[in-house]
This record gives sequence, structure tokens and C-alpha cells, in this order.
Amino acid sequence: MATLVDSKGKELPVTMVQRWPVKVPIKAYKEKPRPYKLLETGVRTIDTLNPIVEGGTGFIPGPFGCGKTVLQHAISKQAEADIVVVAACGERANEVVELFTEYPELEDTRTGRKLMERTIIIANTSNMPVAAREASVYTAMTIGEYYRSMALRVLMLADSTSRWAQALREMSNRLEELPGPDAFPMDLPAIISSFYARAGYTLLNNGETGSITFLGTVSPAGGNLKEPVTESTKKVARCFYGLSQQRADGKRYPAVDPIDSYSKYLEYPEFAEYVSAKIEEEWLEKVNEAKTLLLRGKEVYEQINILGDDGVPVDYHVNYWKSEVIDFIILQQDAFDKVDQSTPVERQRYMLNHLLDLCNSNFEFDNFNEVGIYFKRIINQYKQMNYSEFESEKFNNFEKELNKIIAERKVA
Ligand SMILES: Nc1ncnc2c1ncn2[C@@H]1O[C@H](COP(=O)(O)OP(=O)(O)O)[C@@H](O)[C@H]1O
Ligand SMILES: [Mg+2]
Repeated sequence: MATLVDSKGKELPVTMVQRWPVKVPIKAYKEKPRPYKLLETGVRTIDTLNPIVEGGTGFIPGPFGCGKTVLQHAISKQAEADIVVVAACGERANEVVELFTEYPELEDTRTGRKLMERTIIIANTSNMPVAAREASVYTAMTIGEYYRSMALRVLMLADSTSRWAQALREMSNRLEELPGPDAFPMDLPAIISSFYARAGYTLLNNGETGSITFLGTVSPAGGNLKEPVTESTKKVARCFYGLSQQRADGKRYPAVDPIDSYSKYLEYPEFAEYVSAKIEEEWLEKVNEAKTLLLRGKEVYEQINILGDDGVPVDYHVNYWKSEVIDFIILQQDAFDKVDQSTPVERQRYMLNHLLDLCNSNFEFDNFNEVGIYFKRIINQYKQMNYSEFESEKFNNFEKELNKIIAERKVA
């Protein structure tokens, strides 16, 4: 066995050192069943609409500046995980510096201890060598597997996997391998899929369970989702959180597109069973209902755009504004507000039920102008609720006020 020496050539004790080749998965488990346990991230657009599970995989593609990094940092701060491994791969150095300066200050709300104590950061910024960049992502995954073998819930984040793929490309070109599409290595899809396959929910030999949930960002050049990295990732990752330039331009953060994004876990029967016990029985139907309302709102919006405000019935405006309420109150979330940045699932359930009640009510208006004015008042009250501690006096007062406004125009 090789010995470790310090800079003066003195031998170091090796008892604390574990050696493992990073491209070889650690398979210290008995079984890798399908994951099904909801992983709370505190981000409403994820938990309520397209949830991810413990041991699941997902990716966040989006053009530059749409909020990939902010979203990942938000998830890393508040997700229900024992260990968070962040691979900062090939992005700007100042973002990593932020992590290092911010995390030692922040408290983990679940344990009351410093976030840094459960966070591992593998930093490999854009000015570092490409070979190290390739290794950084594998190193992060291997560390994750190490902790998963100890029956812990690991959340692994990589920002960005496109930079990692670019490192693979440069290495492959220098080795004079036959290039594939866009000069990426021919086996890029296989490399990406075997990497994502290392995540997962495992039954360990001692009967305990462990998991690695993996979320990677993809930064496709020019926002083109048809390029090889996005396409290969789409085939393997089970959740897709597409960031939309249009939403980011409108400051509708997080800019996750509610219509294009998906979570394949919603189709797992074992997941449905889990959430109906954990959240509520009809939860998934309600989620679908919210999505339908958003889709209907989008359609109406396009019709209004074409036909003009008074070219459509007043009801169309009502439907559009109902979807706006869901957009403002569930989808949009301020990553920099102390209360709003993280919403526990119980609170998400409460709000979704309240919103669906509103959307299933009928309202009467004389003209379309009244509709916008009225619903803006409603949105404002809901927003104040989002910014207040759940079930605090302030929260309850805003809710009372809101219910009064709703009663003004609601018809039985
Ligand atoms: N959830 C959010 N709340 C408020 N502002 C946000 C949010 N997400 C992104 N932003 C804004 O967008 C900017 C760019 O986000 P960033 O995550 O760095 O983009 P990307 O990593 O996609 O290039 C941030 O500096 C911030 O001002
Ligand atoms: Mg970024």
C-alpha cells in the first residue's frame, strides 16, 4: 500500500484514509429498489407540482442567468437530507466563494446546527484544469456513496453537468478519439446514464436504508434543448425542471416552467401510496387539478392576446386570473426571504387546498377591468400569508382579511 507523506517527507498515519477509484461505484448494499419516498425540498414548485423522491434523479436545464444556481443553493439549504454534496463544476468562482462564506453562518433548520457541518463542497471552477473537472463530479458521487453506505440520506448537486461534459469532450479530443455529435465523445449518452445510475435508494446489508438523490443543472448553449448533453440527460433523469427565459425575464422566480416540467415519480403506484398516507388521500388529484388550472390559464392568456381584452367573455379573464393566483402563490417563491424561502409540505398542503377552494368558486363581474383589480387584491393577501410564519397571528389575520375579500364577490 502506498504511504502518505507530508511536504517534508515525513510519513503520515493512514488510519483515517479511505482509498477508492472514483469511477467505480461503491456497491456495499443488498438491493436497489425503486425509490418512492417523497423528499421535501421546501421549494413549492418542486414539492407540490413535480416532486422528487429520496434516491431519485432530476435535472435543471436553463439558459444563463435563469436561476439554476440560486435554485440549487436553495435546495441544498433546506432539503430533507443528512448530507449534502455539492459539486461546483466549471462555473464561476465567485459562486463557490459564496458557498464557503455563507454556509458556515447559516443554520440547518432541521437540526439547529451549522449547515456547513453536513455539507461537502467539491470546488472545480472554470479556471481549473479540465481533467480535474472530469474527476470532480465522480469524486462527489463517490463521497455520496460512502455516506449512503452508512445509512444516510445524501443529496448530491452538480452545477453544471454541461461543463463536466465539456471536460469529457476536451479529453476525448486530445486523445484523438472518434468524435460523436457536437464533438462530444461517442459514448456520451452511456457515460451520462451510468453516472445517473449511481444515484438511488438502497437497502443495506444490515437492513437499514440509504439514498443518494441527484440533481444536476445543464446549461445548454443558447438555451437549445436539442443538444447532446440535454438529450442524453433527459433519457435518464426522472425529473425535469426546465427553467424558462420568459419567466426569468418577468422576474417570476424560481423560473421553473410548470407546464413543460415533469416528475416521472408521480406515475409510480408506490409513490402515490406514500403521499396519500403522508400528505393526504386525494393529494395527487389535487396536484393534477392545479396543473390543469395552470394550463387552462396559459391557453386563455394566448386567446386574450389574439382577440383582445374585450374580444373574450369575462369568464376567460376570471380563469386567467385564477391561474395567476396559483402562479404567484405556489410557483413563485422568494429565495432570499427568511420565511418564504422554505415551505414545509404541511404548509404547502394547506395553501394548495385554500387555492383550489378559491379556484372552484364562482365570481361575478360586470366587466374585465374589475377582474384584474379584484384578483390583484387576492394575490396580495396570499403573498402576505406566504411571507408570514405559518399559523402565526399575522398569518391568521391575513387569511381572515383574504376570506373577507373572497366573500365580497363569491356567488353561491
Ligand atoms: N428564486 C429566486 N428569487 C429571487 N431571485 C432569483 C431567484 N432565482 C434567481 N434569481 C436571480 O437571478 C440571478 C441569476 O441566477 P443564477 O442562479 O446565478 O443563474 P444561472 O446559474 O442559471 O446562470 C440571481 O442573481 C438572482 O438575482
Ligand atoms: Mg449558475
